[in-house]
Formats: sequence, structure tokens, C-alpha cells
Amino acid sequence: MARILTGIQSSGRPHLGNILGAIVPAIALSRDEANESYFFIADLHSLTSLKRAEERKANVYAVAAAWLAFGFDTDKNVFYRQSDLPEVTELTWYLNCFTPYPMLANAHSFKDKSDKLSDVNAGLFDYPVLMAADILLYDADLVPVGKDQKQHLEMTRDIAGAFNRAVGEEILILPQDHIRKEVMTVPGTDGQKMSKSYGNVIDIFLPEKQLKKQVMSIETDSTPLEAPKNPDTCNVFALYTLVADEKETAEMRKNYLAGGYGYGHAKKELLRMLLEKYAAQRSAFDHFMAHPELIEQKLSHGAARARVIGQEVLARVRKSLGYR
Ligand code: ADP
Ligand code: TRP
Repeated sequence: MARILTGIQSSGRPHLGNILGAIVPAIALSRDEANESYFFIADLHSLTSLKRAEERKANVYAVAAAWLAFGFDTDKNVFYRQSDLPEVTELTWYLNCFTPYPMLANAHSFKDKSDKLSDVNAGLFDYPVLMAADILLYDADLVPVGKDQKQHLEMTRDIAGAFNRAVGEEILILPQDHIRKEVMTVPGTDGQKMSKSYGNVIDIFLPEKQLKKQVMSIETDSTPLEAPKNPDTCNVFALYTLVADEKETAEMRKNYLAGGYGYGHAKKELLRMLLEKYAAQRSAFDHFMAHPELIEQKLSHGAARARVIGQEVLARVRKSLGYR
């Protein structure tokens, strides 16, 4: 049985790109009988950029509600909030003392962020070590991440190797990465990659009126209504194909090519499809958001399960370092 572990950032409400690019494939992986999945909400990492308590809480709930709405099975798998297990911060300290300073100073993500952000704090610098602790605390075998996280995984293996060599025992298990080839990049309303930071998202959990506004704002060219249109260069069509089945996509392609079918029609059809296809997830999301105590219950159940293994690994680490 492989233990799969991954952290999910809680930096805002999940959009269609997060859902199709990360949530749906991770849930599919977690359904495999041969796997046991540890998925957690990385709310300690979010403190490097986000300082307001209320915002952090709201984001944690929105992210958790999205995973639950898409059917993540919290009985088979372990779903928890990073900050519920302060053990991870203790392990971070130990690992810090086995992490060469230049390794962190040369990390791509730190260099990128420290060029862009005004708040360049020590937490941002130490981000990869907390991430290594997230993984090593639970003896994870496989860590599915996007390719932007590949260097963090290499650092995790290096830190674990350095630790094991220093204490002279295989205390920490070296994880394998599982880099998701960018199978799908969901375009945003402006045709760029959909991202919170570009303000071009489609948030399928919004009330219908607001969702409609987002869909209607998708940028299109100025081909007149009567003229035939090229489906392969149109954002509306690109988004439609990601949610529609083959038959529906073929039908829409025909409409585009025939002419007399405007972008407004296509957007209305996309909206209808989103509302229909995600009806169950939309109402489940609303239900969880209206009942945060249900989310809390699931997360604390997950934390209790994660703690069993976390405490075992931490005891092993402490002993190997001569602590009680
Ligand atoms: P954002 O760009 O909105 O801040 P994140 O970087 O938090 O998104 O991404 C969280 C997860 O969602 C990552 O695994 C990432 O690969 C996936 N993801 C984000 N945007 C897209 C997109 N437009 N298409 C496909 N996957 C995406
Ligand atoms: N840094 C990861 C990201 O930005 C999130 C994360 C935190 C993570 N801890 C992790 C991913 C541990 C995998 C394993 O997406």
C-alpha cells in the first residue's frame, strides 16, 4: 500500500482550473484501493503571505468544502488541516538544523517571490523546510504535485538524506515525487491560464447570477453573429469542451461552423452546462459552507488519524537526536 500525501494551499476559493487540474485528478488517485491518501490544507504555509485570521479561516473552509463537494472520501483517506498538528513545526526546527543555508537561498520559488513581494519574511525563506516536514512526518511514499513544486521535493529528499546520514540510521523515509504532467491547462475568461492572481476565474460555486456574470465576461473576437466561427480559437468553446461530453462538444462545434450562432448563445449554453453538470457539487458546497461544524468534524477526525503516525515518527526523530 502506497501512502500518497499532498498539501493543498488555502489561498482563496477554488476555481474551475483548480478543480479540473488538481481536485478531480487527486480524488481519482485516492480512489485506488492500493493507495492511502493523506491530503491536508496547508494553512501554516499561508501565513507567509496572508496575515488576517478571518480570511485564513474562510479560505480553509472554502477549500475543504470544495474537496468534500467533489466527493473526497474522508473515511478511506486522511483529510486534515496542517495547523492541527503542531508536531510539524517541531520537526521543521530539527530539519532546519540539517538544511544548508545556500540550498534555501538558491530555491527558485524563494528567488521569484522575494523579487515580487514586499513582505519577504523568514517564513517565506523557510517554506521548503516546513514542506519537507509535512511530508517526512507521515512517512509518505508518493507526493503528487505540479511541476512548480519539483525542486521542493528534491530538497525534501536532500534534507532527509542529510538527516539520516548525520544520525547514522534510516530514520526518515525518502519520498518519490509524482509530477503531474500539465495534462490540462484550463483557460481563464481572458484566454490566459486561469489563476486567482490574474482575476480571470470561473468560480462554479458562486450563486447563479454571479456565475453568469463571469461566464458572460469571457473574451471573444468580433466575428458577427451570422458568420461561421472558429471553435478552436474561442475561449468559450475551450471551456465548454472541458465540461461537456463528446456528443455535446460535436454539437457545439457544428453550431460554430454553421454560422448564425453567436458567442452570446454559446456562453448561455456554457452556463447552463456548468449549472447542470455541477448541480450536486454546488449544493454540497453551500451545505458545507453553511455548516462549518461539519467541516470541523471531518478535519478533526482526520487530524486524530494523522497524529497517530505523526507522533510515532516524531518520537523516532527525537530519540535519534538524543531528546526525550
Ligand atoms: P492559482 O494559480 O489560482 O493560485 P494554485 O497555484 O493555488 O492556483 O494551484 C492549485 C492547484 O491547481 C495546482 O495543483 C495547479 O496545478 C492547479 N491549477 C491551477 N490553475 C490551473 C489551471 N488553470 N488549469 C489546470 N490546473 C490548474
Ligand atoms: N507548496 C505546495 C504548493 O504550493 C503546497 C504544499 C505544502 C505541499 N506542503 C506540501 C505539497 C507537502 C505537497 C506536500 O502547492
